Amino acid sequence: MTDNARLAGMRLLVSAGPTFEDIDPVRFLGNRSSGKMGFALAAEAAAMGAQVTLIAGPVALPTPAGVRRIDVRRALEMRTAVLAELPGQDVFVAAAAVADYMPEHTAAQKIKKTGDTLTLVLVKTPDILAEVAGHPERPRCVVGFAAETGDLERYALGKLREKRLDMIAANDVSQPGVGFECDDNALSVFTADARQEIPFGPKSQVARALLVLVADRLDLKL
Ligand code: PMT
Repeated sequence: MTDNARLAGMRLLVSAGPTFEDIDPVRFLGNRSSGKMGFALAAEAAAMGAQVTLIAGPVALPTPAGVRRIDVRRALEMRTAVLAELPGQDVFVAAAAVADYMPEHTAAQKIKKTGDTLTLVLVKTPDILAEVAGHPERPRCVVGFAAETGDLERYALGKLREKRLDMIAANDVSQPGVGFECDDNALSVFTADARQEIPFGPKSQVARALLVLVADRLDLKL
């Protein structure tokens, strides 16, 4: 059986990659997200017939065929782009590793090496996923990701409830070859009343399996 038309007529918004939070013109705070998981989701969703918009953090990946891509750098820019694209979307999948904190101020000039220590004041970034889930234009299905290094179920279910999601895909990034940067992944997918496992495999295969769960949730038939 093929899933190739399973998302026909659906509009999907996907976030991918890291965000870079600038400290000064030459330094930033970032993380190890390569964008591969989010780009695989965008590619597979397009292959399943969806109209896909991909909001991409700073990554070095080609745009998947048939996908509309918007590049951003900072969490604040990702939020603006996601909210601008939200009207009319059926599904939002947040695979991006958005920085949780950003420098309170970005220095206009390169910070000079004057003292033995340097103190940066960081402030929380807006939670884009929670904002989408509580938005008047909320898509029918809002899917979060959780990158955890232990106690996967507890933290994933906490995020599912707190952010008011339909589904959360948790990856145990303490496992070698899973999650950040690599070509493979494995996910535990939680809804309010079920847990399903997507076994270790290439991110394209894992993405396809997650999108089948999304289609099931939306009751989309072949
Ligand atoms: O990009 P790759 O190298 O392929 O790696 C894939 C991945 C490990 C980055 C991906 O599979 C993944 O787990 N992405 C989410 C990572 C993460 O930031 O998880 P979190 O538990 O910190 O955040 C929970 C959710 O809230 C995520 O859906 C995140 O996009 C969202 N979030 C977080 C903070 C924030 N300010 N706004 C958000 O929208």
